[in-house]
Amino acid sequence: MLARAGAMLNDRSSILSLLKTRRSGRPRDLTEPGPSEEQLREILAVATRVPDHGKLAPWRFVIVRKEDRGAFEALLQRAYRIDHPEPGRLETEATQRFAHQAPALVVALFKPVASSKIPLWEQQLSCGAALLSLLTATHALGFAAGWVTGWAAYSEEVRRAFAADDEVIAGFIFIGTPGIELEERPRPALDDVISNWRPGDASY
Ligand SMILES: Cc1cc2nc3c(=O)[nH]c(=O)nc-3n(C[C@H](O)[C@H](O)[C@H](O)COP(=O)(O)O)c2cc1C
Repeated sequence: MLARAGAMLNDRSSILSLLKTRRSGRPRDLTEPGPSEEQLREILAVATRVPDHGKLAPWRFVIVRKEDRGAFEALLQRAYRIDHPEPGRLETEATQRFAHQAPALVVALFKPVASSKIPLWEQQLSCGAALLSLLTATHALGFAAGWVTGWAAYSEEVRRAFAADDEVIAGFIFIGTPGIELEERPRPALDDVISNWRPGDASY
């Protein structure tokens, strides 16, 4: 069972099997139990151990605790009304569900270091790598996670509630236990994404 996948990671094949079976959970399908505070710290510690050109740590993580989900919802409802002054009932309910889904929520921020000579693109790659490690560690501990953005990640009102002027929201990472069997999704055919370089072949 996926939920137990983290139990025996003491040999190479089980690490490979973990990596081959990792898949996301839809945030709305993630139920209790979620990670303890200690487990969440462990997950985030793994997330920080990623390739990072220049050792810039161009990312950080903000935990939205259970007791603050109500305030998080209020923020989202307020932010949504900036572009949609008169939301319908369904929109308001969708925002409410988003704010309260899954037992744990981490808001991941991209924190570029503008003064560095390391290109911004490389810093963004490190942020993506950190988030994948976060997802993998979650999986290894027997939980599932869903990395989503949606309108809230691009709302200036929401961004300002979490981030400094130069930072952006890289995603909302919801974490919990899958309440239903996780669905597999189609993966790219390997031969579509792997090829041998042919010297002299310059045009694509
Ligand atoms: C930056 C980023 C933003 C994403 N935002 C959303 C989103 O808003 N809604 C969504 O359903 N999936 C979103 N996804 C996709 C899911 O996180 C996930 O990759 C997808 O459900 C497939 O799951 P997998 O991890 O099992 O491949 C996003 C992925 C990335 C990398």
